[in-house]
Amino acid sequence: MKIMVIQGPNLNMLGVREQSIYGPMKLENIHSEMKKQAEQHNIDIEFFQSNLEGELVDKIQECLGDADAIIINPAAYTHTSIAIRDAISAVGIPTIEVHISNIHRREEFRQKSMTASVCAGSVVGFGPFGYHMAMMAAIQIINEVKMIKEQQQKQQTI
Ligand code: DQA
Repeated sequence: MKIMVIQGPNLNMLGVREQSIYGPMKLENIHSEMKKQAEQHNIDIEFFQSNLEGELVDKIQECLGDADAIIINPAAYTHTSIAIRDAISAVGIPTIEVHISNIHRREEFRQKSMTASVCAGSVVGFGPFGYHMAMMAAIQIINEVKMIKEQQQKQQTI
């Protein structure tokens, strides 16, 4: 079982950029916490960050047949990218959207997410802890899907 974590533009600047909004934690620290959480559940995890929309689309497509869940913070592309939305929808892999800040309390242009409606759910506004919550959700979904598949296999052998 594998979770793919995809981080959009400027998230490589966490710890440096607008600390009053995003806090002091660096992306690598967020990822090392997520890795620990994945290990506790015997789940593989891979991390990818890009500032380029097309690379994010490519990565989502590569998840097909490789990842069982996606955790994505599309960052600024959340508000603009039909391409990322379509990629998430195309692969059909359970996807959880994360935002460190509460986008609903910020500028009007941040309040619309192009991607949220093709995701299983969203976690917004809880800082880096949101990634921990997204991991819990992803693990829960993976286990549910696994259970359903096992039940289907059992029924086929009856
Ligand atoms: C963000 C919110 C976006 O509006 C912004 O462009 C980001 C980060 C967040 O995690 O709060 O880069 O996705």
